Amino acid sequence: MSTSNFMGWDAPGTAVITGASSGIGTEFAGQLADQGFKLMLVARRKEMLDRIGKELAEKAKVRVEALAADLARQEGIDLVAARIRELRDIDVLVNNAGFGIPGGFVDCDFGRMLDMMAVHMTAPVHLCRAAIPAMLDRGRGAIVNTASLSAFNPSPGMYAPTKAFLVSLSEGLNSELKGRGVRVQALCPGFTHTGFHDTSDELKKMKASLPKGIWGTAAGVVGASLAGLRKGKDVVIPGLVNKFMMAFPKGLRKRVAARRKP
Ligand SMILES: NC(=O)c1ccc[n+]([C@@H]2O[C@H](COP(=O)([O-])OP(=O)(O)OC[C@H]3O[C@@H](n4cnc5c(N)ncnc54)[C@H](OP(=O)(O)O)[C@@H]3O)[C@@H](O)[C@H]2O)c1
Repeated sequence: MSTSNFMGWDAPGTAVITGASSGIGTEFAGQLADQGFKLMLVARRKEMLDRIGKELAEKAKVRVEALAADLARQEGIDLVAARIRELRDIDVLVNNAGFGIPGGFVDCDFGRMLDMMAVHMTAPVHLCRAAIPAMLDRGRGAIVNTASLSAFNPSPGMYAPTKAFLVSLSEGLNSELKGRGVRVQALCPGFTHTGFHDTSDELKKMKASLPKGIWGTAAGVVGASLAGLRKGKDVVIPGLVNKFMMAFPKGLRKRVAARRKP
């Protein structure tokens, strides 16, 4: 058995990563390419995917495919799901694409809220359905659904509920697939340095207002996720600071989170 990848699998197959054009998704792509996995990278910004894909293909000597798709649209979801169904060697699916929107449930842009629900919930459900049959046929596979610490600390708006959905989906799927070689994990990062907080003025302001010590890195988040998969953990909270915060009573965590949007 090979020990050069996180599961010790022989002949690593393909890893599909959504939201691979930035942040945590790019880091998943880098770490999995270094472990010998072929990559299918998904996001809207094709030029970023092509650039990242070219760099990783040259560095890690693996095959990389870049697939541009908008996962807020059913056509985009269907495109990726169809391509996944064609892969006979899918080993890893990382449902990681995501974003936050300014405002609470009542005052946010409703269209953007629906887009977020599609990217965070509808797309992962379709992509899991597309990937799992081939994983079960091969008797091996790993699925990561990037949720958030917000799943346990609801803030105003729909961001936290969509992430709580991913935690529940992952735990349920992991139980359903137990003993059949396929592991499913909800990855629940806290504040992490990525492009996430650069996407709106409100998120930039929120980032500037938070203490520097609570921020983690994408490398740490992905390292914790892969180590957690190896150990069979269905929920992973990366970083000591985040684990420490989760030790506070729920009432206190809810009061702090309630002041945040998202
Ligand atoms: N950073 C944090 O503090 C933090 C904390 C907890 C959880 N998370 C979660 O971590 C995941 C990754 O975020 P990140 O922090 O790495 O942020 P990021 O650097 O902004 O990356 C987000 C990724 O999602 C993709 N994406 C967004 N909308 C999309 C759409 N409609 N269709 C397809 N792809 C889309 C983006 O690609 P394109 O723009 O090219 O489409 C990008 O690759 C998200 O699910 C986020 O909710 C982040």
